[in-house]
Amino acid sequence: MKNYSGKVVWITGASSGIGEALALGLAKRKARLLLSARNTNALEKISVQCRDAGAMDVKILPFDLKDAAILQQKTLEAIRAFGELDIVILNGGIAQRSLAMNTTIEVDREIMEVDYFSCVAISKFLLPHFCEKNNGQLVVVSSVMGIIGTPFRSGYAAAKHALHGYFDSLRAELWKKYKGIRITLVCPGWVRTNITYNALNGDGSKLDSMDKATARGIDPAIFAETMIRKIASGKNTIVIGGWKETLAVIIQRFFPEFMVKVVRSAAVR
Ligand SMILES: NC(=O)c1ccc[n+]([C@@H]2O[C@H](COP(=O)([O-])OP(=O)(O)OC[C@H]3O[C@@H](n4cnc5c(N)ncnc54)[C@H](OP(=O)(O)O)[C@@H]3O)[C@@H](O)[C@H]2O)c1
Repeated sequence: MKNYSGKVVWITGASSGIGEALALGLAKRKARLLLSARNTNALEKISVQCRDAGAMDVKILPFDLKDAAILQQKTLEAIRAFGELDIVILNGGIAQRSLAMNTTIEVDREIMEVDYFSCVAISKFLLPHFCEKNNGQLVVVSSVMGIIGTPFRSGYAAAKHALHGYFDSLRAELWKKYKGIRITLVCPGWVRTNITYNALNGDGSKLDSMDKATARGIDPAIFAETMIRKIASGKNTIVIGGWKETLAVIIQRFFPEFMVKVVRSAAVR
């Protein structure tokens, strides 16, 4: 889908960082946008910017991805907002900056709930709509950490790895009957967003600072431009990052035993 004009795109995590940049990038391409996150004020501000940038229409749908009980209702509201959805970008998420030994199980569960189960739940409630029209693209924002597990990310890497298992299986189940549905996993490397401010420490408090690796990351607007172009190619898994992350994914694939040694001392914070 190279032409986004008039397409209905629902983006979660649209109040900040990658989601915000995607919204603005798609607005320039005249998409119709539905923006979700918890921060209603931020969503309203970004929706005005999207209209100014050229979006055909913009609506907001604020909700908490952690609230499993409302995800069906919110997904149905999302479908009703414009009467259909063409592309759904499940991007909302939280990160982690704590050693496994210092992380409470409650924090592991919270990361799983937001980063993994919310995507699974929304996809289940969305699929009947995509299947009915045999059309639609589900884009799930994973991470290079969804391919490689590093120190300080046990729960986060687990949630992102789980996305690959789930959505690779789902894609394999759908392909025969529903050739018009595409599932794309996007794996960002470092992107300079607020992610580390919101990252959880082992006790559930927020890190509330920018770590060095993220500060050196790709500008979110540049990242979003690349992502918008690449998801249109229909590829199943897309890695977008600096040379170090891209090389790390190649090493992981072809020399996994060597990668075990590399990640021990990876500068991940
Ligand atoms: N930045 C990176 O280096 C990097 C690298 C790899 C992968 N990623 C992934 O990219 C995605 C976007 O992250 P980002 O870097 O753009 O970080 P960000 O600036 O912190 O944005 C995260 C977005 O997720 C939303 N969100 C968080 N918890 C939520 C909840 N419980 N309910 C609803 N929305 C929630 C936030 O909105 P509210 O706070 O308003 O709810 C915000 O819009 C995440 O899935 C992240 O794992 C980022």
